[in-house]
Amino acid sequence: MRILIVNGPNLNLLGKRESDIYGDQTLSDIKSWFNKLDEAKHHSIDWFQSNHEGEIIDRLHQSINKIDGIIINPGAFTHYSYAIRDAIAAINIPTIEIHLSDIKSREEFRKVSVIKDVCLTQIYGLGREGYQKAFNHLISKLS
Ligand code: DQA
Repeated sequence: MRILIVNGPNLNLLGKRESDIYGDQTLSDIKSWFNKLDEAKHHSIDWFQSNHEGEIIDRLHQSINKIDGIIINPGAFTHYSYAIRDAIAAINIPTIEIHLSDIKSREEFRKVSVIKDVCLTQIYGLGREGYQKAFNHLISKLS
């Protein structure tokens, strides 16, 4: 399967950013760990990070006919980007929303996701293991 893993704004600062919430691993550490997982080795996996809403939308559009499934951590766009929601709905590629932190036990605004209804499921609060769980769920749905 061809899987795209999208990380949104400020996730390039993982490792430095609020490590009490997000841990001390960088995005590159998470990517290296993930790509070495047994289940990941059998698939083609692209990682993409951007701080820009339009770049994320462009990348989602470019996935049409090229990507079988998407895992997305939209960062703060989760809570208000109808444009990313519409892009996910438009491309019609199975997508899972994921968050490192437990967005349900943080500030009120983080409890709302405008993305989740266009995704297969939402995974949160598991740190980097959330990406693994999302991946296994996605592969099982695609197989
Ligand atoms: C996040 C949670 C969001 O609320 C926040 O804006 C982020 C990271 C997470 O992975 O826990 O940037 O998506």
